[in-house]
Amino acid sequence: MFENFLSVHDISPYDFTHTMDLSIQIKKNPKHYRTALRNKILAMIFQKPSLRTRMTFEVGMLQLGGSAVYLGPSDIQMGKRETPYDIGKNLERWVDGIMIRTFEHQNVIDLAESTKIPVINALTDLLHPCQALADFLTLKEKKGDLSGLTLAWLGDGNNVCHSLLYTAAKTGTKMRIATPQGYEPKSNIVKQAEEDGKESGSEFVFTNDPSEAAKGADAVYTDTWASMGQENEREERKKIFAPFQVNENLMAQASPGAFFMHCLPAHRGEEVTDAVIDSPASLVYEQAENRLHVQKAILVLLLGK
Ligand code: CP
Ligand code: NVA
Repeated sequence: MFENFLSVHDISPYDFTHTMDLSIQIKKNPKHYRTALRNKILAMIFQKPSLRTRMTFEVGMLQLGGSAVYLGPSDIQMGKRETPYDIGKNLERWVDGIMIRTFEHQNVIDLAESTKIPVINALTDLLHPCQALADFLTLKEKKGDLSGLTLAWLGDGNNVCHSLLYTAAKTGTKMRIATPQGYEPKSNIVKQAEEDGKESGSEFVFTNDPSEAAKGADAVYTDTWASMGQENEREERKKIFAPFQVNENLMAQASPGAFFMHCLPAHRGEEVTDAVIDSPASLVYEQAENRLHVQKAILVLLLGK
């Protein structure tokens, strides 16, 4: 069984399936897990803002009979006031697990190496694994079998895109990724996902043409064009990414009945139009709800030992 949840790539196919199955069980029968983490405490380190992640981890701990302590950007000032190593060495004396949202992925690795309590990655510049699990749970609920499905990604080859690649590789889902030139997902992550995907039969296509990615896809996924920490590039990116907007024309190229997905927060009128995000094809609030269920499963598996 896994000891930390830093990346979908790190967990075995068995642990992946087990986590997804437990998420479904917890969603179906939440009362059964009401005391699963009684007296357990989660420290939540946030160096970036959040609605969904903050709410779903805190509410998740409360629903499991435990509690959570929020540490905001000005509290511990990781890397400035104290190193990830010293933070981990302190926190393990008081709490049962750590959830962290930060910039550099290396900080999460350093934190996990410093401490004997489990560490959960709640978004770095590189990865957003909890989001990807919730997204694939959402797709599974809608489509049943995930293998053979085609998921189109339009926009930036960012943290969410990276984690979706790793997750698609576990489930045999095909992905077609359309980004502007120079904004492709990182080549080492692509290589690892392709390697992982050999076993499950997933295939990946990379293109700079939004229509090529969308054509015949079962779901179309996009995210902000400027992630947290890239705010100063926002105006420049708006111009570069404009052809990658998910609008009704684009959705019309996908498979009939194709779903629209977004991790949120959305910038309406930029990466997606109101007509698409508010349409019956949109799964965005289901995805947000499923953050709660998958994270409760991860918490039970890691803190409930
Ligand atoms: N999708 C997501 O992680 O949302 P927050 O940034 O609001 O947590
Ligand atoms: N790519 C976005 C995801 C937000 C949940 C960001 O990192 O800001």
